[in-house]
Amino acid sequence: MTIREIVVLPNDILRRKAHKVTDFGPELQTLIDDMIETMRAAPGVGLAAPQVNVSQRVIVVEFGDEEDEEIPPKLYVVVNPETKRPSRETSLGMEGCLSIPDLLGDVDRPESVTVRGFNRRGHPIKIKASGWLARIFQHEIDHLNGVLFIDRAEKIFTLEEQEDSVKLKTVV
Ligand code: NI
Repeated sequence: MTIREIVVLPNDILRRKAHKVTDFGPELQTLIDDMIETMRAAPGVGLAAPQVNVSQRVIVVEFGDEEDEEIPPKLYVVVNPETKRPSRETSLGMEGCLSIPDLLGDVDRPESVTVRGFNRRGHPIKIKASGWLARIFQHEIDHLNGVLFIDRAEKIFTLEEQEDSVKLKTVV
């Protein structure tokens, strides 16, 4: 596995709609392994393929239980992900992005969503997510459509204005 370079704004790949994955062969497997390692090294709780300069619809998310820190973080790999059934209820939360260093923003998003897509072997999967997990999935899937949190943020802050604990939880 290799830690890949994370591209940052104004790199144009972050603004493009990524291509649908059709080949679940070795190249995809290497990409996914590298994305997991790159996300962990950053560190971040999610990463989308365009952030490592690959215009493919692949995301990785690793996030633990919000209420119980004893439960180890769970790793999700979703290929060609789509959000379904967004809740009418929304919540405001602070987000950061590995591709936009130094900025954080308050973003209003549906409180829960269902994520449908495929696992790394091409089998269909469905994940019901709420709270921060739902937020992370929505942020990552936005990346595949060239959308960044700064497009949705109601308010944008600089990193210096926030405490360390906030920084770590929200960088995706
Ligand atoms: Ni991001």
